[in-house]
Amino acid sequence: MSVEGARLGKESVRSLYRLEPMQLDDVPAVINIEHASFSNPWPKEAFLDEIRKNAFSYPTVACPRASRERIVCGYLIPWIVFEELHIQNVAVHPLHRGRGLGRHLVEDALELGKRSGCRVALLEVRESNAIARSLYVSMGFREAGKRRRYYSHPQEHAIVYQKSLKDP
Ligand SMILES: CC(C)(COP(=O)(O)OP(=O)(O)OC[C@H]1O[C@@H](n2cnc3c(N)ncnc32)[C@H](O)[C@@H]1OP(=O)(O)O)[C@@H](O)C(=O)NCCC(=O)NCCS
Repeated sequence: MSVEGARLGKESVRSLYRLEPMQLDDVPAVINIEHASFSNPWPKEAFLDEIRKNAFSYPTVACPRASRERIVCGYLIPWIVFEELHIQNVAVHPLHRGRGLGRHLVEDALELGKRSGCRVALLEVRESNAIARSLYVSMGFREAGKRRRYYSHPQEHAIVYQKSLKDP
C-alpha cells in the first residue's frame, strides 16, 4: 500500500499511520524494509532480540490505519538507557517516504524519552546520509562528534547527533 501524493501535515500523518509495538510476526516485513534501506542491514536475529530479550528496547512499527491487514510501513528502535534515549535504527519503506512518517516515528521516540525521564536523545548516522541528517537537524538535533570508520560496507565515519529533551 502506498500513500503517494502531496506531503502530509503532522495531523494527517498521525491520522494515516498508527504506531504500535513491534511484534515477532512483523519481523519479515521489517527485514524487507531494512534490506531496502541499508547497505549493511541488521540481521533478523537482531530484531528478534530487540523484541524478546532487550529490556531497554521499545521497538515500534508504523502501519496504515486504513488497512485491515497489518502492513508495516516503517519502524524505529529506541533504547531507554537510564537518562538517555538512544535511537538505534529507523527506516521507512521506500513507497512511504517523503510524507512525514520518518519525522512522526522520531517525534514519537522523543516523546517516549521525555515520558521516561531522559535528559538527552542520541543517535549515529552515516556521514553521507544527507536525508537522515537533514531530518535530525530539522528536529533540533546538533552534531556532537564523529566516530571515525564506525560503519562497514562501505566503511564510513558516523556523525553523532544529540538533542536535549529538557528544552521546552
Ligand atoms: C531517513 C528516513 C527514515 C526519512 O523518512 P521519511 O518518511 O522519508 O522522512 P519525512 O518525510 O518525515 O521527512 C523528514 C525530513 O527528512 C528530510 N528529507 C526527507 N526526504 C528527503 C529528500 N528526498 N531529500 C532531502 N531531504 C529529505 C527533510 O529534512 C524532511 O523534512 P521536511 O519535510 O521539512 O523537508 C527515510 O529516508 C529512510 O528510511 N531512509 C533509509 C534508512 C535511513 O537512512 N535511516 C536513518 C539511519 S540514521
